[in-house]
Amino acid sequence: MSPQPQSAVGAPLSRVDGRLKVTGKALYAAEHDIEGALHAVIVDASVGRGRITSVDTRAAEQHAGVLRVIHHGNAPKLPYRDNAGSNNPEGRRLRVFQDDRVLFHGQPVAVVVATSLEAAQHGASLVKVRYAASTPSTDLADAERDEPTRYARGDAEAGLREAPVRLDLTYRMVRNHHNPMEPHATIARWDGGKLTVWDKTQWVVGTQTELAAVFGLPLESVRVISPFVGGGFGSGLRCWPHTSVAALAARELKRPVKLVMTRRQLYFGTGFRPAYEYRLRLGSDRRGRLRAAVHEMSAETSSYEKFDESIMGAGQMFYSTPNVSQAYHKVPLDVNTPLWMRGPGFTNASFAIESAMDELAVELGVDPIELRLRNEPPEDESNGLPWSTRRLRECYTVGAREFGWDRRDPRPRSTRDGDWLIGIGMAAGVYDPGRFPAQARVRLDADGTAVAEAATSDMGPGTYTSQTQVAADALGLSMRNVTFRLGDSRYPPTPPHGASMTMTVVGSAVLDACDKVREQAVKLAVEDEESPLYGVPAAEVIVRNGRLHPRGNPARGESYQRLLARNKLTHLAADGAYAGAPQPARHSYFSYGAVFTEVGVDARLGLVRVRRMLGVYDVGRVISPKLADSQALGGMVGGIGQALLEHTVTDHRDGRIVNASLADYLVPVNADIPDLRAIYLEGEDPDADPLGVKGIGEIVQVGVAPAIANAVHHATGRRIRELPLTAEALL
Ligand code: MOS
Repeated sequence: MSPQPQSAVGAPLSRVDGRLKVTGKALYAAEHDIEGALHAVIVDASVGRGRITSVDTRAAEQHAGVLRVIHHGNAPKLPYRDNAGSNNPEGRRLRVFQDDRVLFHGQPVAVVVATSLEAAQHGASLVKVRYAASTPSTDLADAERDEPTRYARGDAEAGLREAPVRLDLTYRMVRNHHNPMEPHATIARWDGGKLTVWDKTQWVVGTQTELAAVFGLPLESVRVISPFVGGGFGSGLRCWPHTSVAALAARELKRPVKLVMTRRQLYFGTGFRPAYEYRLRLGSDRRGRLRAAVHEMSAETSSYEKFDESIMGAGQMFYSTPNVSQAYHKVPLDVNTPLWMRGPGFTNASFAIESAMDELAVELGVDPIELRLRNEPPEDESNGLPWSTRRLRECYTVGAREFGWDRRDPRPRSTRDGDWLIGIGMAAGVYDPGRFPAQARVRLDADGTAVAEAATSDMGPGTYTSQTQVAADALGLSMRNVTFRLGDSRYPPTPPHGASMTMTVVGSAVLDACDKVREQAVKLAVEDEESPLYGVPAAEVIVRNGRLHPRGNPARGESYQRLLARNKLTHLAADGAYAGAPQPARHSYFSYGAVFTEVGVDARLGLVRVRRMLGVYDVGRVISPKLADSQALGGMVGGIGQALLEHTVTDHRDGRIVNASLADYLVPVNADIPDLRAIYLEGEDPDADPLGVKGIGEIVQVGVAPAIANAVHHATGRRIRELPLTAEALL
């Protein structure tokens, strides 16, 4: 086949769903108007550990409009079959209302169903639950650790002993919550034995498998619909208990039920980025070439599931190091189970590793970029594979040039602007994007328009738009003649909308389906005696604006409409697939970035302000530059939040989250965000996938926090090894 001209791909287009969003016509989970829907409000545990001794529902049930209160004392037993299909970590998942145990503060213990939201809310406040409570264990620093997962190559302890330069550094990162704009919500409706849910989820297929498992249904009896997701950052990668609560309530009441989590409930009803302690010992020669690295990590998980983030990967491949050992401990606590949050694993690993590299640079008096260049590995030392593309050197060169790195006086505390100490810092980033199998289907209609479908979500990256761009170019249609549909488990299955893989895997499946449809049309034309293309070699035909013609000869050709009409075809259609990462792997495949930032630190108040930031990214081909920028700037904002503001605070006396609201959990606002800029290295990753993309969504948060911490050190001479970096720590 002749390669198609690319006019939509690579163009800085606005969102195809932008108008729907700004006019309120893009419906989020709770906004679907399902006839006869009742309202449900969850009652959550007010103790951090223990047993429920009684549930008094009388006052609630007497309240006008309240129809039912469901709790462990009256709930039916549910099958809760095992399910590997919804990102459920190893362990025994929370089974709502199946027993009297309280495993964490905020666990759902009852649900009130009423004819109005107000009645359900008031009814929930009237439910009296009594507990036999004990003190929960919620402090990472003061709990038993599990046996670690280990990794080793060479002899790291010996390498450390022999290294002339040694650092022993411990970094701490607090718990963070995703806090998407749209709260998690579910509407559940039963039609006989079939369940339909409108749900906020990053994975309709995963939620479908989980609901089928919880209720013991065949997969095809569950349909999950989620056309718009108002932000996720990872919080929707799993089907959480409230979704089952909504479905259970709907089944019991024999009416559709809508359940919207409150802001507060999001802090224990969905996941979070676990807190970490990360001790890193580095040994290098006098030129800063690493000889050994020993990583010891501890992270929160729940008492009932072993959540495992990819915290170990970066330390195994990022810098050339002959001797490496790692021990990663999970620490079971009386909390709900964590889940991936933006740039999962790599974001926190990079805070430790990239801060430590900056400390090593200072120790040796070597420029931080030069130190990193001296440690660039020629191949992936964890598996011996060549890199697919690893263009970090270019990230450094371009970033240094565009940011004015060479004007930086390397001495800490060397630059002032009034009361402000000014510092410039940088950090590198790496992320391991997912590449799981995905499917799509495409139908080209006789009127010259096309519809492509896949089950994936769009939580904000612009999937509707970027997939339409891929389909439009592959079919040779204009953007407005292509519609992309997503967010329904009836569409061809796709993996989770996360791990930076949607563009890669869904895009490759869409491309495959569109290529097949175009091939069908071309074959039809060149074999059709009545076509002006009769006899032209198929490999020479391209399609542009819905018109098939030989490459370089637009005068000879015909439109899809004419071709299909003459052949009495209503449509052409094809299924497409992406098979997943090549097995066995031939290349080591990661996305990369380098973050540069300038901060001001108020010398008297300790206040840190980011003044400017630049990210330079090696992410392969960029399909949709305007949306890529939206991702990159959003990732930087997330990183600024993690670096300076975000901190979930737990009261260890009873396991309560103290700041479970957006008024008290600080996230950046516009006034916190300065001049941000993103640059993407041109080119594609030919080994990545048929589209040549590596994905943007996660890498853009990696490296932001250490770049800021390194800039703060440059500004003040103070090394803060804890996130967030607070004024208190700097005074
Ligand atoms: Mo991303 S943390 O996989 O939504």
